[in-house]
Amino acid sequence: MEYVEIFDTTLRDGEQVPGCKLDSKTKLIIAKQLDLLGVDVLEAGFPISSPGDFKSVESIAKLVKNARVCGLTRAVQKDIDVAAEAIKYAKRGRIHTGIGTSESHIRYKFNATPDQILERAVAAVKHAKSYVEDVEFYAEDAGRTDNEFLAKVCEAVVKAGATVLNIPDTTGYCLPEEYGAKMKYLMENVSGIHKARLSCHCHNDLGLATANSIAGVQNGARQIECTINGIGERAGNTSLEEVVMILRQHPTLNLDTRIKSTMLNGISKLVSESMAMPVQPNKAIVGANAFAHSSGIHQDGVIKKRETYEIIDPKDVGVTESSIVLTARSGRAALAYRAKNIGHDLNKLQLDKVYEQFLKVADQKKEINDEDLPKIIEASNI
Ligand code: KIV
Ligand code: ZN
Repeated sequence: MEYVEIFDTTLRDGEQVPGCKLDSKTKLIIAKQLDLLGVDVLEAGFPISSPGDFKSVESIAKLVKNARVCGLTRAVQKDIDVAAEAIKYAKRGRIHTGIGTSESHIRYKFNATPDQILERAVAAVKHAKSYVEDVEFYAEDAGRTDNEFLAKVCEAVVKAGATVLNIPDTTGYCLPEEYGAKMKYLMENVSGIHKARLSCHCHNDLGLATANSIAGVQNGARQIECTINGIGERAGNTSLEEVVMILRQHPTLNLDTRIKSTMLNGISKLVSESMAMPVQPNKAIVGANAFAHSSGIHQDGVIKKRETYEIIDPKDVGVTESSIVLTARSGRAALAYRAKNIGHDLNKLQLDKVYEQFLKVADQKKEINDEDLPKIIEASNI
């Protein structure tokens, strides 16, 4: 079994969501939980962006016990100086520097030539290296960057000392096969690649961030950059809980993370509440309905054997148990199960009568709860 490192960027890329800005105190609370969760790298912010962000990164660097604490920079000397200052108290610090490498970034954002970009990339890595051993380089918009040029940049920055190569699909454009093939190409064509770790950083504009990250690690990447609940710019980043559970549920991939999965549900709630960013009910792993069953056929199956309709034990992600939701689509098995839970062990005849009454009420109400049930049983005259 090989480990894939989890690089959490909830407090940097995640916090770029409009309206989700966190105060320093809340960032510290989340950082502490992320450290306990077992993330390998915690991207704490973009120190040059504001004095507040600098302070937060500095405080997180002082607080975190296990994870590497990382600060983002552009390929600009001043950014790197400020990031180095912000992370200097970290037990293990990392500078994350980089530059756009796609044609549109080179031509329109930087009005530069590919050679000038290459030069700036190398200079940034060398400068960061003068402060810390661990330097991650990102090739922004790598998803739309020509593979040959991307390999050339990667090779040059590894030579300059980069320890991690981040290959962001910044616009969420790639297909999983394409993103996986990009990683494979880099593994096979960058000389010195064994000295660095390839990292997946995928955005979710087409809903493919998780699939692309998995394709990346299936083709040689050994770090995934992700956020709790998949929050982030536009449609968000790769969701941490999804990639962690995919690797755990598929042992044949021979890849795992160090994440304590039983903390996932709690930390999802913490981030959602802190950012006032509700989690969609049908969100994989941490959505309110992720372990809820409401149709009669599924409920009957789950009551007989949970695994019939669940591939994850809810306890593994910190959810106490699966829920059997009573609606007009529920069957007798679910009604009997829920009635028994509140102390009414119904025999077949009683159940038939209660079910008749139940359907009348359920047709008027979206969901039948534990307070409604005794009233329904009483009105059934059993
Ligand atoms: O999406 C992206 O390209 C980024 C980089 C700054 C790493 O977030
Ligand atoms: Zn990003």
